[in-house]
Amino acid sequence: MSFPYKRTRRLRTSSAIRDLVCENHLHASDFIVPVFVIEGENIKEEISSMPGYYRFSLDLLIQEVQECYDLGLRSVLLFAKASDEKKDNKGTEAINQNGLMQRAIRTIKAHIPEMFIMSDVALDPYSSFGHDGIVEGNEIVNDPTVEVLAQMAVSHAEAGVDMVAPSDMMDGRIGAIREALESDGFPNVGIMSYAVKYASCFYGPFRDALDSAPGFGDKKSYQMNPANGDAGIREVELDIEEGADIVMVKPGMPYLDMVLRTKEISDVPVSVYQVSGEYSMIHAAAEKGWLNLEDSMMESLIAFKRAGADLIASYFAKEVAKKLKN
Ligand code: PBG
Repeated sequence: MSFPYKRTRRLRTSSAIRDLVCENHLHASDFIVPVFVIEGENIKEEISSMPGYYRFSLDLLIQEVQECYDLGLRSVLLFAKASDEKKDNKGTEAINQNGLMQRAIRTIKAHIPEMFIMSDVALDPYSSFGHDGIVEGNEIVNDPTVEVLAQMAVSHAEAGVDMVAPSDMMDGRIGAIREALESDGFPNVGIMSYAVKYASCFYGPFRDALDSAPGFGDKKSYQMNPANGDAGIREVELDIEEGADIVMVKPGMPYLDMVLRTKEISDVPVSVYQVSGEYSMIHAAAEKGWLNLEDSMMESLIAFKRAGADLIASYFAKEVAKKLKN
């Protein structure tokens, strides 16, 4: 049977029927809020390439995280901006029990214990080379980096983090972090692995936010080639095998195929990261009057749910949560 008996438009004739057959919905609890923290007091400074997005000092962070929680958001993903004099090639500051990240975790846990805290694990904000690992010659060396990452994860766990999020793309780091957490007494601290992470130009504004752009070369020897899909599936399989509790695809919008493929094979929840460049380009087009900000925000986010994402990290999280509340 076909036309005129079958008319797909029947299910789109009114807003009521459109709502009834709507397949995907956004909830505030789907979102992970990336949060940038900075040393100092009373600081809320806008990131120049990310309109409406800020770095917070720890005193103002409390209020910001409380607002997020009150809007129904349940998770923050912390990134700390280290000052230049704290950077070296060993990750010293990354594992400092009194470092900014560790203090940020303790501060949030002390004031808003119900918020689920995730923390970025990678060396780039602490690296004098702006690389995610230890540099020897022109190489980002894998195994020595993994050792430091495992210590970094444990130091976040000691500060009270709920889940660590390794974003570095070294081989074997999920297994090493899992082992370190188990043997140091943190069996309940989870791991959200950036499993499918591409060497993407869309991270540009984030590197402004943390002043973490690579000093030489690029990240192509550890982050993935945007031309490759099957390679991402290998990453997902390995990370799940090594003990990842959640696997992530990043960036988001240009890689929806990878969200779908990951969801098809993953037996753990799948998250997607709508990265800084995706946020900023939507803002830039809106500023020019070429796109409607709110509509493009909502359309970009529902596409993640349709592709199969269970969780979404996005700089729009707070705006969406506000919109969903009204
Ligand atoms: C660092 C890290 C990056 C992002 C998250 N963790 C940048 C990079 O890999 O260079 C990007 C996030 C964004 O662009 O929003 N390991």
